[in-house]
Amino acid sequence: MSELSVDHLLGIKYLNKKDINLIFETADHFKEVINRPIKKVPSLRDITIANLFFENSTRTKLSFELAEKRLSADVINFSASQSSVKKGETLIDTVNNILSMKVDMVVMRHPKPGSCVFLSDHVDARIINAGDGAHEHPTQALLDTYSIRERLGEVKGKNVVIVGDILHSRVALSNIYALKLLGAKVKVCGPKSLIPKHIEKLGVKVETDLRSALNWCDVANMLRVQHERMAVSFFPTTREYSQQYGLNKDLLDSLDKEITVMHPGPINRGVEITSDVADSDQAIILDQVENGVAVRMAVIYLLAAKINRENAN
Ligand code: NCD
Repeated sequence: MSELSVDHLLGIKYLNKKDINLIFETADHFKEVINRPIKKVPSLRDITIANLFFENSTRTKLSFELAEKRLSADVINFSASQSSVKKGETLIDTVNNILSMKVDMVVMRHPKPGSCVFLSDHVDARIINAGDGAHEHPTQALLDTYSIRERLGEVKGKNVVIVGDILHSRVALSNIYALKLLGAKVKVCGPKSLIPKHIEKLGVKVETDLRSALNWCDVANMLRVQHERMAVSFFPTTREYSQQYGLNKDLLDSLDKEITVMHPGPINRGVEITSDVADSDQAIILDQVENGVAVRMAVIYLLAAKINRENAN
């Protein structure tokens, strides 16, 4: 049987194309499962998973928890606001305390880039990165590319533009890695102050004019401005940002072709996307959320299969 080349999901950077295709095929199966009247499979009855969220999250946390429960895993949840990290405990101590309760897998979101890699070197559990600062958000990129494949048949050869705050976005970096691995052509578009220097080295092109980018693309992934990661302002006013980089219905309807619109959520309606675009048939935002559960089930299932195989040997 095929298995993942990695023991943890720390970032898309560590995956190869075969891994992503295996995750997609497994997610296809789970998508069928979660649309059945009984949405659960007993696969992970022997696995315990801890969800450690050191940063706010709604949809990612709920999506992981649902994925774990639909696989019949035992789940414990922990969020920083209630934690002893606030009392001065180190990350490793916090996690080791949890692991001594015999936890097999940790899903962690943390504000510090690299925290999941660090943890994987120091604790004895499978780690899934649910977002590490402005670095990577691998399951988001997997569900995004899975949703493109579902809508357009395949990712290969498609033109995808990622619009907005590329500089502070973990979704952007993970999406770039995943899209490139799967053979898409990628552009990033936004104000120059929000595009990292040397980003072309990742094999993407930079476009500062939104209309040109939209006329080129098959898919536009609209990102939220990550105000929480900005110590200073990177553009004059929100109104000017939306005038230049917001997607509204007039602009969408004036394009040469019908493009697919994506957004990882949470949406700031009227800033990066207007309500009529977000709620239109061209937007697949809710499909992304639905696919998130199936894709996360696939990742957890495939990592757990490796634990079970090791224990059997
Ligand atoms: C993204 C995140 O947290 O990085 N959202 C998410 O995972 N649903 C994007 C964002 O916060 O803008």
